[in-house]
Amino acid sequence: MKQFTSINDVPDLKALIALARTGKANPQLHASLGEGKAVCLLFLNPSLRTRLSTQRAAAHLGLTCMVMDVGRDGWQLEFSDGVIMNGNKAEHVREAAQVVSQYCDVIGLRTFSALKDRDEDYSEPVLSAFVKYASVPVLSLESAIRHPLQSLTDLITIEEHVKVAKPKIVLSWAPHPRALPQAVANSFAEWTRAAGHEITIACPQGFELSDAFSNGHIVTHDQDAALAGADVVYTKNWSSFKDYGAIGEGLDDWQITADKMALTKEAKFMHCLPVRRNVVVSDAVIDSANSLVFAQADNRTWAAKSVLQMLLHD
Ligand code: CP
Repeated sequence: MKQFTSINDVPDLKALIALARTGKANPQLHASLGEGKAVCLLFLNPSLRTRLSTQRAAAHLGLTCMVMDVGRDGWQLEFSDGVIMNGNKAEHVREAAQVVSQYCDVIGLRTFSALKDRDEDYSEPVLSAFVKYASVPVLSLESAIRHPLQSLTDLITIEEHVKVAKPKIVLSWAPHPRALPQAVANSFAEWTRAAGHEITIACPQGFELSDAFSNGHIVTHDQDAALAGADVVYTKNWSSFKDYGAIGEGLDDWQITADKMALTKEAKFMHCLPVRRNVVVSDAVIDSANSLVFAQADNRTWAAKSVLQMLLHD
């Protein structure tokens, strides 16, 4: 694997999931694969799970792991070409990406969408610049429009915990007081499609994902109908793609509650975390025996380990 930025970079999804599950079952396997090598994790945005689980995955492979909170500790980066850099941005990504490449064998990068200019966000300016100017493979730790490591984790978790041959998987929008990217939902749609699932995406009018991501799935504005008979309820907020970055009003009843879960077939509850309790999901649901949120968080390590293995291998 030459890079890991979307499902399109994965030559064999089944094999990648199997590799992650083998790594989980045998944590000592490949403990020296990364000896003498290094991964550098660059964070332009906050993280708890991605940061710690990827560090843990690197340790399992014997990789040196350098972590930098670029948004706080580094020089402000310029991404546009041909600009006169006489403002507050002291370093161009052209130099930064090439310099970091000299210090490591894989660059991990986390960045979010700005949620101001849809075309700009969907052109992935930050991730694309690192891919263009780095001379080592780039591992997305979430980008403006995708979160592939999270989706790999989610598929591993579904395979482990959902024993129905053709599960009904519902991706349900949930309310949130702040504008969040579409990245997790986009990737979940993309990766479940690649895994052969036709999922049901339930969202209010105006919160449909880009067709590029929702194609091949069922889209509905009727949450109760979507939840009926579900085996998996994956809940996530995202701001509007259509009215770009809007969060909507009067949509609190989209929260996932015990009453909503009662419509399902004793569905597993999933969320990537962090989550706002009693806004996105009620305490009763996230704390229930059917909640997989900790299983998901644990699988972040094994997903990251498998992807690092693939990147180092090639
Ligand atoms: N799910 C996830 O990516 O969590 P963090 O933002 O804490 O890394």
